Amino acid sequence: MDFKKYIADIKDFPEEGIIFRDVTPLLKDNEAYKETIDTFAKWAEGLEVNVDVVAGPEARGFLFGCPVAYKINAGFVPVRKPGKLPRETVSASYALEYGTNEVHIHADSIKPGENVIIVDDLLATGGTVEATIQLVEKLGGKVVGIAFLIELEALKGRERLKDYNVYSMLTY
Ligand code: PRP
Ligand code: ADE
Repeated sequence: MDFKKYIADIKDFPEEGIIFRDVTPLLKDNEAYKETIDTFAKWAEGLEVNVDVVAGPEARGFLFGCPVAYKINAGFVPVRKPGKLPRETVSASYALEYGTNEVHIHADSIKPGENVIIVDDLLATGGTVEATIQLVEKLGGKVVGIAFLIELEALKGRERLKDYNVYSMLTY
């Protein structure tokens, strides 16, 4: 399937100079969405370890991470922006392609030794995923793989992920 057909390229959003890769047309298309999730699941099943947890960063990471977790019979742990999770959290901050942010995870959500994959829609600078890795590892989880629908190669996010098994379905 030509998945790129389902990604809308929006110039100068949310700021001048950014080409925003909008995944909502893919989500809307039942076959493209299903095939995307099936592709992630197949990759996860090929990792040769049992995946206990899928961690997904708010908000677009939920849209892909949750169905992958369901499909591979793993749990899902949300990685959220500040002020959203009601119980004790651990946090890490990072810089975005535009702006800065902080991510949180519930302190009891991942147990030491659990195998975790991180799923998100897009790899840009790698700040979000690097912060997410820090959170998982602070809790003693092992990041056994990281999957994106889209990788923006020019931003070199992958260079920050040298020690990890990184999969991206589409590159720009
Ligand atoms: C986007 C995207 C990734 C992140 C990638 O999320 O969904 O999580 O940016 O950028 P990076 O590699 O430079 O960190 P965003 O923070 O815009 O939040 P959203 O999913 O709530 O729109
Ligand atoms: N997150 C960070 N950079 C992005 C981009 N260019 N398009 C969509 N989401 C993004």
